[in-house]
Amino acid sequence: MLVEWITSGLTACPPAARRLGYHREAAAIAARGRRRARDWAPHLEYSRRQVAEAAERFGRGGTLLVLGSGPLLDLPLAALLPRFERLILADIAHGPSARWRAWRDPRITLDRVDLTGLVDSVVDGRPLKPGCDAHVGTALDLVISLNLASQLPLTARGLVAAQDGEAVADRLAADIVRAHLDHLARLAAPCLILADVERRWRDGQGGVQSVEDPLFGQALPGKRLATWSWDVAPPGEISRDTGFDTTVAAHLLLPPHHS
Ligand SMILES: C[S@@+](CC[C@H](N)C(=O)[O-])C[C@H]1O[C@@H](n2cnc3c(N)ncnc32)[C@H](O)[C@@H]1O
Repeated sequence: MLVEWITSGLTACPPAARRLGYHREAAAIAARGRRRARDWAPHLEYSRRQVAEAAERFGRGGTLLVLGSGPLLDLPLAALLPRFERLILADIAHGPSARWRAWRDPRITLDRVDLTGLVDSVVDGRPLKPGCDAHVGTALDLVISLNLASQLPLTARGLVAAQDGEAVADRLAADIVRAHLDHLARLAAPCLILADVERRWRDGQGGVQSVEDPLFGQALPGKRLATWSWDVAPPGEISRDTGFDTTVAAHLLLPPHHS
């Protein structure tokens, strides 16, 4: 708990995002990753392998853009650095591990960015129109959306559900995921997308209680490369009687005319 509190204090986060608690969320992800190291190991290994293979195929000594880099648990930096001159790590919250790596290596740049385009509007009470143009027009060798798409709607959806109900919140969540996929398409570089495509809630005995679509009806574009399951929170992590796991998919989206 103390480590989590210190980590959240050392997490760099825009002021509006801090008001919504993104720095605490970032520290909580890193802490859960440590607590669940054994349960998460296969997922992190699959993720790193997909990223390393994409880097090997598309790395041309230019720029790699990682969206949702977070605590870097699923990013094989040692395999990436020889393939690119520059790594841009984009996330709304950069914890101590990412800040330390960027401080040590001038090829790593941290971009503190809201990839939904909604956070300021949520805080100011303005209408919510998801959309992001970050790095559109930048020359990129490869883009990776790294276990991010299902996370983007969570904060805004939760607030809207409390205020306007579940149906309105679900529509907003679908718009957020759609806007992210549209952003990826406009980046005009090969894009590896790793994302949850099914979430299963389980009771204390492991039985499935309910199944959710974490992408709110939005299909991942491009070619499916692989799927695997991720035991995110086995019973005991959130509560004794509930837990959840997900199916993660890796998709490769190539821009038009890419060979
Ligand atoms: C499941 S975590 C994945 C983190 C990282 N790939 C890892 O496993 O180490 C999702 C990430 O999405 C980021 N995120 C959530 N909402 C965001 C937003 N609106 N803009 C940018 N990043 C966001 C979180 O800060 C977090 O780092």
